[in-house]
Amino acid sequence: MTIFQKTVKSNSRPVYSNQPDVHTRLRETVLKHLESDFQCPVSDSQRQQFELAWNWQQQLDRPFIIDSGCGTGLSSFILAQKHPDKLVIGIDQSSHRLRESGQYLAQQSNLFYLQARMEEFWLLAEEADWHPVKQFFLYPNPWPKQKHLLRRWHGHPIFPIILKLCKTLELRTNWLIYAKEFNLALSLYGITGQLSEYHPRTAISRFEQKYIASQHSLFRVSTK
Ligand SMILES: C[S@@+](CC[C@H](N)C(=O)[O-])C[C@H]1O[C@@H](n2cnc3c(N)ncnc32)[C@H](O)[C@@H]1O
Repeated sequence: MTIFQKTVKSNSRPVYSNQPDVHTRLRETVLKHLESDFQCPVSDSQRQQFELAWNWQQQLDRPFIIDSGCGTGLSSFILAQKHPDKLVIGIDQSSHRLRESGQYLAQQSNLFYLQARMEEFWLLAEEADWHPVKQFFLYPNPWPKQKHLLRRWHGHPIFPIILKLCKTLELRTNWLIYAKEFNLALSLYGITGQLSEYHPRTAISRFEQKYIASQHSLFRVSTK
């Protein structure tokens, strides 16, 4: 059995939300974060993790791509295969999710995995003035409850820092409202995103596999 032939669940439920459309407070929330300076404590262990990735990239001295919330790391592996001239750093907070990633590392020398919280990673990247050439957001947790707007990446106070680091982004989601909000938030920063329904021929990640098998509509927002 290859890494691509795992059993894929086909009974994933579509996102259910008590929010009928774009959040009524999206604009005000994004604009407030644009004016503010997000800070949060960064632990020594996160700093050490960050330095491992930074040293690796500095030694190889090639442009790098971030796969944020990479889960099992399959998408980072596929991206690394697709972009042999670049380095790919897959980051996830869950060691459990990342436990499969060793098998991918053994096959791709332009690939690195980091167990880290994205918020802290982005703050440290800003501090180091370290800029990826592209950032992927593949099926981030949707946080679909209306009261959870601030947990979605575009509603989070870290969003301005994400954009300061790199404005070339790709988001994929199975929740249209998330894609609409993400795109609208980008526009409030003067960034043009393209929102489209997405029909991948092959899945890039475990969640994409699961959603394709469950016949969900998929959406993509990308910027150039
Ligand atoms: C829905 S899964 C998607 C995983 C993968 N991108 C995919 O498409 O298969 C979301 C992932 O984001 C990770 N995650 C959520 N919040 C995070 C954070 N603040 N920092 C790092 N990883 C995070 C979770 O551990 C989880 O693996």
